Amino acid sequence: MTPAKILAFLAIILTCKIANSQQTQTLEMGKVKLSFMVDAGGTPRYEASYNGKPVILPSRLGFNLNTDSLFYTSFEIAGTQKRSFDETWQPIWGETKNIRNHGEELLIQLKSKHAAGCLLTIIFRVFEDGVAFRYVFPQQPNLKYFIVKDELTAFNMAGNHKTFWIPGDYDSNEYLYTTSSLSEIDNRKIVEAATDIAVREAPDPYAVQTPLMMKTMDGLYINIHEAALVNYSSMQLHTDRTTHALTASLVPDAVGNKAYLHAPAVTPWRTIIISDNAAAILSSNMILNLNDPSVIKDPTWIKPMKFAGVWWEMQTGKSGWNYADNADNLSKDGQLIPNGKHGANTANVKRYIDFAAANGIKGVLAEGWNPGWEDWFGNWKEKVFDFTKPYPDFDIRQLTQYAASKGVNLIMHNETSGSATDYERQLDTAYRFMNLFGYTSVKTGYVGRIIPRGEHHDGQWMVDHYLRVAQKAAEHHIMLDAHEPVRPTGLQRTYPNWMACEAGRGNEYNAFSNGSPPEHETILPFTRLIGGPMDYTPGIFKMKGYTSYAPTRQMHTTLCKQLALYVTLYSPLQMVADLPENYQAHMDAFQFIKDVPTDWDDTKILAAEPGDYISIARKEKNAANWFIGAITDENSRKAIMPFSFLDKGTRYVASIYRDAAHADWKDNPEAYTIEQFIVDSNTTLNITLAPGGGAAVSVKPASAEEIKKLKKYK
Ligand code: NOJ
Ligand code: CA
Repeated sequence: MTPAKILAFLAIILTCKIANSQQTQTLEMGKVKLSFMVDAGGTPRYEASYNGKPVILPSRLGFNLNTDSLFYTSFEIAGTQKRSFDETWQPIWGETKNIRNHGEELLIQLKSKHAAGCLLTIIFRVFEDGVAFRYVFPQQPNLKYFIVKDELTAFNMAGNHKTFWIPGDYDSNEYLYTTSSLSEIDNRKIVEAATDIAVREAPDPYAVQTPLMMKTMDGLYINIHEAALVNYSSMQLHTDRTTHALTASLVPDAVGNKAYLHAPAVTPWRTIIISDNAAAILSSNMILNLNDPSVIKDPTWIKPMKFAGVWWEMQTGKSGWNYADNADNLSKDGQLIPNGKHGANTANVKRYIDFAAANGIKGVLAEGWNPGWEDWFGNWKEKVFDFTKPYPDFDIRQLTQYAASKGVNLIMHNETSGSATDYERQLDTAYRFMNLFGYTSVKTGYVGRIIPRGEHHDGQWMVDHYLRVAQKAAEHHIMLDAHEPVRPTGLQRTYPNWMACEAGRGNEYNAFSNGSPPEHETILPFTRLIGGPMDYTPGIFKMKGYTSYAPTRQMHTTLCKQLALYVTLYSPLQMVADLPENYQAHMDAFQFIKDVPTDWDDTKILAAEPGDYISIARKEKNAANWFIGAITDENSRKAIMPFSFLDKGTRYVASIYRDAAHADWKDNPEAYTIEQFIVDSNTTLNITLAPGGGAAVSVKPASAEEIKKLKKYK
């Protein structure tokens, strides 16, 4: 839809200036209601309810600025405007073909009663699935350059809700989720014990990260996060364990400030997704709708894909990233001395290219291709990697030609080890280098303490850095997958080449630490993925018995659950993470990974409960095929899946990949059964998921021959 058409849909129903009237303003959409008022002390407050039940009790809005520590008092309403909006737009890639942005907006202009008369605008939007608001600092004579010392936004919860949380760490989102009531939140022991997370800084014991998922005693689901995080620091939530009030807690910079702004300026949107149905939380498009449309004029080069990579073999200790064991111990002629365990060597990368080409996988990542890995981590040194120089055994020219001849795209790896300053100095040359050698995507990484020293992964400086990288990548037609960045806030709409992020605890923790319990993947879609796609790296087939390096490590899922994750954990860049030889041992099950796409026309959340189970059906982009993933936590359960989403009157072949009768994640994870049946829109699938298990189903229109040959599902 053109911007002009979009505007045509935006009917402005009411504009009223009510300079002297300070009464409560309300906004409603479906079951969601929002009220705003300025109290007797001039403090702006809002509250929200769902179907008459309080969700947010009256809560304060405002700031502590360097120019005015009381920038939350002495305000009066100077004007209000209301409008309705209803538009439908098409993402460049995504979970559905069309996205409807439908709601009501209330804009409140506030003016300080102090002599300076400073202005602050708050924009509220209500949708059928929740409430959002952002602050606007208009251009004005007495507030120009200023520093946010604290944002005072509160979310006063109406009860002691069940909460799925990770510690409010300035540098990491890679913690395991804890499920507790709000009054039990205390992250100290968790942070202390999380020695598998490289950099941790969580000074507030009662702070948690967003997206924060909550469930009330009477079955309301509430998710708090933010949208369009640009030029600001990331919001964590401080919990008052007695009153159940959550307050914004912004990640500080090296000198303790939260954000540097120059009016006119806006903050990110604060989002509260609300529903009495857990599935509606997963299908909410609120965060995307609050972000700006794509700035990329011609997006034809942006292509979702699956990718293999020289990666899991390093994670499991079969090979290494580093070419030499020691950076200081050089040969007589000054060269690194090869250790013979280097994974990203030309022959091995070719092996992955062959594997990808043979199985229709479009991308191949090679990590450990460039010097620096000998002492890349933990020294807080600024100069670690050169992003335009390969190791001697990585023949980039040959690999570029080889990949091209096989129709495979190479994926660049730029691990910065946290030295963002050095990465910025190399950005131009690094991206030109990618163009020169035909790389179409880059996986970035920020393992380590950040440089500029004192900055944090989730602070304003780094928030801006990740965006500069996405913008530079877009200039060079490069797709981006950022590891260890701030968690996403829907910016993939505006910068659709920024396809995926890690920013959470990925599958890799099962290789290099004690891993994540089976419930982990049932929580992620309600938390981390609310902001955007995750490069989780699913598809591990060899569930345990890695090398001597990790003899006791194992996946905390069955093999079929690894298949299901391709559907339940959405990403337009989806890794086919295991080693070719481990797939070759199960080529029948691998068929599902070959078939499953990474871009969708439609998505139906069939069943969901955070911490317990998720079943999702998705329709392949521009095709009649559907793919279904169902997963469970540590408990075996039945996934009952009505196929009413299929076209009426069409018969399909369902290929069902399910846990075998005695499968379970711990002792029998690789046992599975594959069956094919004829199904239609009246079919209801009933599949038993093993403890820690899952099921994956592909559904394709049946040929006449298949209809004759295969049994109908009963
Ligand atoms: C952590 C990333 O998540 C992982 O995928 C990568 O292999 C290592 N850092 C090394 O960059
Ligand atoms: Ca559970």
